[in-house]
Amino acid sequence: MTATPSAPMTQDQLKTLVGQAALAYVTPDTVVGVGTGSTVDKFIDALAASGIRIAGAVSSSVRSTERMKALGIAVLEASEVSSLDVYIDGADEIDHQGHMVKGGGAALTREKIVADLAKTFVCIADESKQVEALGRFPLPVEVIPMAAAQITRRFAAMGATARLREGCVTDNSCHILDVTGLRITDPAAFEADVNQWPGVVTVGVFARNKASVCLLGTAEGVKTLTF
Ligand code: A5P
Repeated sequence: MTATPSAPMTQDQLKTLVGQAALAYVTPDTVVGVGTGSTVDKFIDALAASGIRIAGAVSSSVRSTERMKALGIAVLEASEVSSLDVYIDGADEIDHQGHMVKGGGAALTREKIVADLAKTFVCIADESKQVEALGRFPLPVEVIPMAAAQITRRFAAMGATARLREGCVTDNSCHILDVTGLRITDPAAFEADVNQWPGVVTVGVFARNKASVCLLGTAEGVKTLTF
């Protein structure tokens, strides 16, 4: 009798897989940094179901805070901790060095703040997020509203197109530009440059706060990449 090939895992199942795998990075009785997005939602659900007792979570968004509170996970302010062992978050893109593009869910500024508190950034992502060079996914840039037009012109001068994300107001009352037409070959230099343009709150390139580990959901299971 021949074995029936099993159906390939859906993207949602891969997200569940890496959300569960991230539990291995949670040390009981510590405070955990928690990111934002549909993959992190799987991690939050797995954490709540795991019975692992943590001292609390520092959250990167109102969305994650609400989900954790609803599941009985205590949420602390970033100002209540001086450091975190681990920050667990998804990504829109990750390259082979652990540089990421983030902000598809508009939470990039708080994500960078919480990531900066953490010794280890664990990125959880399905394999569709892995890229050779950042720039395929439209790059989110959080901006002060009055500067949006001039920042759009600066991107145009680089040959890129910035579009205002319609109807999006961030947790920090700012706007998001989504920028296409970029190929980011030096993520650290790009992040440092764009971050100092007047009116830019946060650029969604995470090079200074890149991943230390990526748990990548693949058809063969979870691959652990270290950087
Ligand atoms: C939120 O602002 C983002 O940085 C997310 O981490 C990123 O968009 C990944 O989201 P998904 O897990 O929903 O793909």
